[in-house]
Amino acid sequence: MVDDVVKNLQVVGTMLRNEGYDVMPAGSGAQALDRVRVRLPDLILLDLMMPEMDGLEICRRLKADPVLRTIPVIFLTASNEMEHLVNGFEVGAVDYITKPFNAPELLARVRTHLELKLARERLKEMNEEKNEFMGIAAHDSRNPLSAIKGYAEMVVEDGEAMVQGSVSDLTACGQELKASGQRIGDTAARMAEMVQNLLDANRIERGEMQLNLAPTDLGPALNQIIETQRSHVTAKQQTIHLQSEATPVAVMLDPGVIVQILENLVSNAVKYSPLGRDIFVRLRKLPNGVRVEVQDEGPGLSVEDQKKLFGKFARLSAKPTGGEHSTGLGLSIVKKMVEAMNGKVWCESELGSGATFIVEFAAV
Ligand SMILES: Nc1ncnc2c1ncn2[C@@H]1O[C@H](COP(=O)(O)OP(=O)(O)OP(=O)(O)O)[C@@H](O)[C@H]1O
Ligand SMILES: [Mg+2]
Repeated sequence: MVDDVVKNLQVVGTMLRNEGYDVMPAGSGAQALDRVRVRLPDLILLDLMMPEMDGLEICRRLKADPVLRTIPVIFLTASNEMEHLVNGFEVGAVDYITKPFNAPELLARVRTHLELKLARERLKEMNEEKNEFMGIAAHDSRNPLSAIKGYAEMVVEDGEAMVQGSVSDLTACGQELKASGQRIGDTAARMAEMVQNLLDANRIERGEMQLNLAPTDLGPALNQIIETQRSHVTAKQQTIHLQSEATPVAVMLDPGVIVQILENLVSNAVKYSPLGRDIFVRLRKLPNGVRVEVQDEGPGLSVEDQKKLFGKFARLSAKPTGGEHSTGLGLSIVKKMVEAMNGKVWCESELGSGATFIVEFAAV
């Protein structure tokens, strides 16, 4: 708040402090311009008429500064200064409050403009996030799309050759067609998975995830996941060891969502481990719940990387070892899904000696 009259600073300062606001008083324009640089305020209450530098000039200077210009300015005016208000709006003020101060009115205007400012900032953030989303979706679609295009051209060429009757070895041609078709299918599946991830991240963000909770035993879910990874694991000469405690443990989970969570962790272990390494998946009973550990002998994660691990679009130092795709979204989705089911997920790792991802759910 900027005012040359100490009494005004006190009166308004008290009104605002009583509502829990932090007030930074300034007795002159020069002092105000110094102080806003030390600590950026959310809102400025600015006296219109002051000796030396008046409110209009201060406002002009604030609006000329790229950092300070976003702070909303409300002018404080005496009723006989109303004719200057037009100039106030011209130099960028958002509102005015007349003296003598009426507490409910002053507080209402302050609250409204603070809310507006927060809403503006949130919108800007969301817009940037959306742009990032779209940028990544577009960028990551390019490779699979051009692969699909390439294989489709091969199919057309083979088909054309068959139509022309210029194929000498039909079996070889058929095999080539089959391989191209398979690659098109695989690439499309990879794209579908990526799109699904983007949609999931978006839906969770908006709090629109639907959970269908049911007593779920994790043993069969883990077997199923390991089975779906099998061909990939074999290609990388890795081995997944499932160590499951004999007694089945049922917890209230969404069976589809838990598969997605564990699949992400297991597929990361496969994706980031070098050829020939072992992966250990353990299912443990806790005194009051259940715990799954996915341990790998991959590169592990530095302390720095661990801090970013569950954030969105975290593509960290570890890179896929078999040409797999990486969007950096998987673990951010995992964390949100686990938390939506009241569980915990974290990573224990030292750079160079593998990583263990742990998920725990309490029994209910
Ligand atoms: N088991 C692991 N060992 C080492 N680094 C890992 C491991 N799991 C994940 N990371 C690192 O964390 C990053 C984020 O993982 P995350 O699963 O969120 O995304 P991603 O695997 O890159 O892409 P996707 O969205 O397809 O899952 C990875 O890019 C990788 O650098
Ligand atoms: Mg992943």
